[in-house]
Amino acid sequence: MLTQIQETVNYISEKTSLFQPNAGIILGTGLGGLVREIEAQFVLPYEEIPNFPVSTVEGHSGKLIFGKIGGRNVVVMQGRFHYYEGYSMQQVAFPVRVMKYLGIQFLFVSNASGGMNPAFEIGDLMVLNDHISLLPDNPLIGKNDKEIGPRFPDMSEPYDREMIKKAHVYAQKEGFKLHEGVYISVTGPCFETPAEYRYMRIIGGDAVGMSTVPEVICARHMGVPCFAISVITDLGIDGKIQETTHEDVIKAASKAEVKMTSIFKHLISEHI
Ligand code: HPA
Repeated sequence: MLTQIQETVNYISEKTSLFQPNAGIILGTGLGGLVREIEAQFVLPYEEIPNFPVSTVEGHSGKLIFGKIGGRNVVVMQGRFHYYEGYSMQQVAFPVRVMKYLGIQFLFVSNASGGMNPAFEIGDLMVLNDHISLLPDNPLIGKNDKEIGPRFPDMSEPYDREMIKKAHVYAQKEGFKLHEGVYISVTGPCFETPAEYRYMRIIGGDAVGMSTVPEVICARHMGVPCFAISVITDLGIDGKIQETTHEDVIKAASKAEVKMTSIFKHLISEHI
């Protein structure tokens, strides 16, 4: 694993004149607009990067972008890999490993998700304070390389509490509604049935989606602190459940992404 990571890191470092990112950013479905805020210095399509899987889903363009946001160096994944596309958990999380070895000190993640908390509305933002994995697999299963991280990583603070506080302070100042809650990860690709949403609410979920958790597990394994925001694109709340399509998700995400982008930009420029 380390050999593969090193090979990819060496390729990227050469292509980017040894660009040193301070933070990594993963952009979720319909949430690629943050890229417009970046002064891009290097752009590498996934298909050109050794050992990188290639993204296939609509709404994901598949590029690694290196540049500045809010005066800080960042590496941005525009488009991510999902388990439902057929990749292994290790493949899904591989770019996070690479970002860590490129030098990131913090990981920012966004995703589109279904809201189950009755206080949520479409277009709302939820900062993750915890997660529950309903995935049938874990990216750390298999031989562990102690150089990368411990066999049994701690998960007592999956999302950085200080950064969550700072996000609330900023959201309040800007007048953004910002919920906080627990994200449940599922494989997809089906959206949930009404009974499944009800079940996920009962076990403690506020939002449900098909990403984020494998990436956060690998980041925490390597000691990288994480901050994640869900954009609520549909509702899994009794009485409010409607037919949902991928297009609905993209549309709702695009509407909310301005607020999300502004929070990410603020946190990176002021607190990284
Ligand atoms: N469920 C799972 N994943 C999702 C949803 C949802 O309702 N909305 C966007 N991604």
